[in-house]
Amino acid sequence: MEITTPGTGTIESDADAAVRIRGLRKDYGRLAAVDGIDLDIARGETFALLGPNGAGKSTTVEILEGYRLRSGGDVSVLGVDPARGDLAWKARIGIVLQSATEPGTATVREQLRQFAGYYPNPRDVDEVIAAVGLEEKARTRVAKLSGGQRRRVDVALGIIGRPELLFLDEPTTGFDPEARREFWQLIRSLKAEGTTILLTTHYLDEAAQLGDRAGVIIGGRLVDVGAIDELGGAEARVPIVRWREAGGALREVRTDRPAELVASVVARLGGEPEGLEVIRPSLEDIYLQLVHSAGAEAHDREEALA
Ligand SMILES: Nc1ncnc2c1ncn2[C@@H]1O[C@H](COP(=O)(O)OP(=O)(O)OP(=O)(O)O)[C@@H](O)[C@H]1O
Ligand SMILES: [Mg+2]
Repeated sequence: MEITTPGTGTIESDADAAVRIRGLRKDYGRLAAVDGIDLDIARGETFALLGPNGAGKSTTVEILEGYRLRSGGDVSVLGVDPARGDLAWKARIGIVLQSATEPGTATVREQLRQFAGYYPNPRDVDEVIAAVGLEEKARTRVAKLSGGQRRRVDVALGIIGRPELLFLDEPTTGFDPEARREFWQLIRSLKAEGTTILLTTHYLDEAAQLGDRAGVIIGGRLVDVGAIDELGGAEARVPIVRWREAGGALREVRTDRPAELVASVVARLGGEPEGLEVIRPSLEDIYLQLVHSAGAEAHDREEALA
């Protein structure tokens, strides 16, 4: 049984915020799966939640969806506390859970038609089938689809109700590369219609392609949040210049002014340096740096407590 003691503070209504989270906590026994998260997601924004396995992404997202009860803090989703969301509120959100429910005996089209019936203003079933690239499987039983095809059905069910806010928990796991690119197109068109999207993913290229902003959760804490191209701060983005000296020794220097450094090396060596590279950290490099430094900090905290 879950015991909830949500905070009593009321969240100010904010017309621009689709999601407001203040001091969110979720404890499983002694484990703080979510350990005090504050976050706002604006209407129309696509927000990518990143973080290693077990960081607390699904727990956070499922609390926002009304699927799990929180242990503490305040949450508002489309102006409503998800622990008290009624049917009218549920009709305004779309959900793609990390683990899909077991398929019954229905075909793809039958299942979508059934779900469409639950919503006041659903999308056209065949348009949605086409949008997720399942035209050829529309008459096939969901149980007979491949893993990636089933995942497309999950996405189709998430968008059939024309949600204002769409939650996608690792939506493209199991997609082939072409299907992922088609999915990105679908998300862009939903975004263009004004849909707010909260996405979790382990694919950093996906976060970079789709996200306006991203947040990194580690050990239940949001360790960084910002525009994708600002994640990790300026320091994490300083390029590295690498070359070989005349004797063959490898040199590596981090500098904000790589062109100046290269010019000075060229002048000193009297020509083209061997193996010259200017390396800019990728989103993946920056993310891994964040994970490593958060891991080191957690270790230091534990040592201090011991
Ligand atoms: N029902 C539960 N009972 C007990 N512990 C749970 C439960 N659900 C999740 N946890 C624990 O809470 C932590 C966070 O889990 P969560 O599923 O939110 O992680 P995640 O960031 O979504 O990871 P992944 O990338 O693997 O999906 C994990 O340590 C997990 O073992
Ligand atoms: Mg998860």
